[in-house]
Amino acid sequence: MAISAPIDATKTPAWVALQKHHDELVEKGISLKDWFAADPDRVEKLSYRAGDLYFDLSKNLVTDETLKLLVDLGRACGVEERRDAMFSGEHINTTEDRAVLHTALRRPASQKGELIVDGQDVVADVHEVLDRMYAFADRVRSGEWKGVSGKKIEHVVSIGIGGSDLGPVMVYEAMKPYLDAGIDCRYISNIDPNDMAEKVKGLDAETTLVIIVSKTFATLETLTNAREVKAWMLEQLRACGAVDGSAEQDAEAIAKHFVAVSTALDLVADFGIDPENAFGFWNWVGGRYSVDSAVGLSLIIALGPERFQQFLAGFRAIDEYFENTPLEENVVALMGLMNVWYVNFFGADTHAVLPYTQYLHRFPAYLQQLTMESNGKHVRWDGTPVTCHTGEVFWGEPGTNGQHAFYQLMHQGSVVVPADFIAFANTSNPFVDEGQDVHELFLGNFLAQTKALAFGKTADEVRAEGTPEQIVPARVFEGNRPTTSIFGDTLTPFALGELIAVYEHITFVQGTVWGIDSYDQWGVELGKQLAKQITPAFHDDEALSKQDASTKALIEFYRATRR
Ligand code: F6P
Repeated sequence: MAISAPIDATKTPAWVALQKHHDELVEKGISLKDWFAADPDRVEKLSYRAGDLYFDLSKNLVTDETLKLLVDLGRACGVEERRDAMFSGEHINTTEDRAVLHTALRRPASQKGELIVDGQDVVADVHEVLDRMYAFADRVRSGEWKGVSGKKIEHVVSIGIGGSDLGPVMVYEAMKPYLDAGIDCRYISNIDPNDMAEKVKGLDAETTLVIIVSKTFATLETLTNAREVKAWMLEQLRACGAVDGSAEQDAEAIAKHFVAVSTALDLVADFGIDPENAFGFWNWVGGRYSVDSAVGLSLIIALGPERFQQFLAGFRAIDEYFENTPLEENVVALMGLMNVWYVNFFGADTHAVLPYTQYLHRFPAYLQQLTMESNGKHVRWDGTPVTCHTGEVFWGEPGTNGQHAFYQLMHQGSVVVPADFIAFANTSNPFVDEGQDVHELFLGNFLAQTKALAFGKTADEVRAEGTPEQIVPARVFEGNRPTTSIFGDTLTPFALGELIAVYEHITFVQGTVWGIDSYDQWGVELGKQLAKQITPAFHDDEALSKQDASTKALIEFYRATRR
């Protein structure tokens, strides 16, 4: 079915009304303090539950009218129709002519036969691979699967980059309290040989399983690292006498120590991996939307099938909520629409994500690919130029560390940085320090920051503390810095699945309003092509002569300096 042309958001009555509304708010003076005082129901009206997460939007720069107009904008831009098109498998990834069906990865097996896309029963396909992965993971976890010398697997090395790395690393770090099989995972992504060198340090090859993860199985970094690790593995196994160096024993070692995850199973076989040990996924899963596909194999091994099922159930809870909740009550859609509000009407160029749990320390990095590879686009899905600013920079670090680094700019800088604060009521590691519950100390900081950002501190309040007059301005906090608080019970596999799905759908909403294909990534291609052309110039004068003056000078510096 043909996908309709994008609607130009800026030409809709809702956009025009939002611009007028914004200008009026600014003219009257935005004051969260006054808005809270004037409306005792503000918090109740702007608090939401989705799955088992609690969302507080009340500290955002929005009124009832703002949200109404944003919902009008979402409707005018066809968010609901496009959402339904995505869930039903229409080819909304227009530049690659593909369905966008990461939501099918978490549909229950009971839905087999209900979603036939391009002639395939996608839920049946998903569960066929899940079942194979669960069986494989059980064998590895129990010790039934053994290395070539008969030893149980104790380490997993997962090789991948971008979507084939960021999700698994982030989830592995976040789920550390749930690791229960005595199997640790290490992730190699960078083509910089230092990454591999450090990750294999101290590893026992006889007890190591390598997973090569690549959607295309053609990514330079991943294939280079895979070859390096293969060479390392065979060398180590020969050195300890586990194999004798014969082609037969090498092949047996590869079969016992290497498995692969890819959509290109033919290329996996070419690499020498037994198709029996390969786990597939499909071109309707974007790399950055793939952590809940076979790309998460290392997680299934480390956490166990049951916890991975809970992880998928978390995604599913948010999918169902997002699909079935009217826009005006749909906090996930509202967060996406508010991001448009900040980017296009307040000129916000960045968006901070600040988890108040150390376990989510890779979550902002994961979100960078999800959001920026999706929405950093200059044309719309029909190839016409975008009509407004798109794609803010997502960034962040866990609190409280960020408080002692960049929060200064958030509190008193001259740019608006909308921020999402994420926290959980329970911790896996409770401690009491001198009678103080340390988790409460931590959460006190989470609440203090959003409060300070919203309500600030006036000059009179500063003066009342006895501050010398010349220092008063420097100690004033203007407030009205927008934040959303996401509060959960415990960072479980289920809650993590929920959180990821929330941001997947936020990204979708923004992309739809801007009219862009959030599921392609042509912007990463040029650099890959140029790297191929440039690399020979380190040694080849003719290749060097074809470079621009700046590149040439840099290569000449290299030639003169490399030992
Ligand atoms: O270069 C960008 C990219 O294509 C990402 O979109 C993707 O997640 C990553 O490279 C890795 O690709 P692959 O899984 O095919 O190795």
